[in-house]
Amino acid sequence: MRILFYDAKQYDVDSFEKERPNYPDLEIEYLDTDISPKTAALADGYDAICAFVSSDLGEKTLDILADKGIKLILMRCAGFNNVDLKKAEELGITVLRVPGYSPEAVAEHAMTLAMSVNRRIHKEYIKVRENNFSLVGLMGLNFHGRTAGIIGTGKIGAAMAKICHGFGMKVIAYDKYPNKNLDFIEYKELGDVLSEADLISLHCPLTDENYHMINAHTIAKMKDDVVLVNTSRGELVDTNDLIQGIRNHKFHGVGLDVYEEERDNVFENRSADILESSVTARLLSFPNVIVTSHQAFFTEEAMAAISKTTLDNAVDFINNEIKEMNLVK
Ligand code: NAI
Repeated sequence: MRILFYDAKQYDVDSFEKERPNYPDLEIEYLDTDISPKTAALADGYDAICAFVSSDLGEKTLDILADKGIKLILMRCAGFNNVDLKKAEELGITVLRVPGYSPEAVAEHAMTLAMSVNRRIHKEYIKVRENNFSLVGLMGLNFHGRTAGIIGTGKIGAAMAKICHGFGMKVIAYDKYPNKNLDFIEYKELGDVLSEADLISLHCPLTDENYHMINAHTIAKMKDDVVLVNTSRGELVDTNDLIQGIRNHKFHGVGLDVYEEERDNVFENRSADILESSVTARLLSFPNVIVTSHQAFFTEEAMAAISKTTLDNAVDFINNEIKEMNLVK
């Protein structure tokens, strides 16, 4: 099988090439450019393409891919909201994905954000390099003995709950389907979790019902000096309401790996650009906010798991042994 790999960063090439010797039937060509209607025709002569969360796999792109004989799209990620699935089915293109790779990678990053913003590590790193050894503005909170509120206790939320438990925190959570394996968690209604927690960490998927679940109304319920972390999806938080909450001194700290306007920024070096969004710029301006660029998944272990599952998916397709949970439909 010949696979054209779009939007290949060096770290993608490194982790896929590490695995590829175990897959003698697969040939991969790496392209810098991402897939779109303008670049889809490059797939001429290949059997499959490999794409990512930010790739444009809309109707036009899929039409061109089908015309070039592409039968398989290998998504090297869990998300697939960028794929026109109806069109793919119509054209007989199979879409496979990597449903889970390393929940611990994301949970560890969530705690990293919480601790960094709590102890102002982002400020201190810069300050000490300038020979400023003052402690003014660096006062943190002990997490030990405080309450962690986990929203969504699936794979990642469970890993985060265990980390918080290990820190000596009381762990409360909200999920429609409580995780029976976590006996140290006390499940409560969403409003109670938001009003009782000192650290709130979001780990539920984005759905129609929880769009902007963190808004002026829910922020008002939270304790003063709360730490909020979002490694899930930007749209869970109404950014303008969050900014108002920060300006009202509601938060001790806010750590965001995802935010509403991230799409044009994610994984791009935009240091020479004037960014279009003033909302993101305002978020970045606060001393008690840390933003990272959708990097929570980005560990060696997670990348190895993504590469392996993506290549396994290709082999399963060849052998007509597709795993149901990896099939997107
Ligand atoms: P999962 O499917 O194992 O768990 C999700 C949990 O959320 C389930 O227990 C479900 O019952 C619960 N849930 C669903 N709707 C809810 C609601 N409205 N309120 C509370 N709980 C709700 O998913 P997993 O693997 O733990 O991933 C969680 C999210 O993390 C993903 O949906 C994705 O948005 C995000 N993610 C972020 C990454 C990053 O790099 N920043 C990487 C991977 C995932």
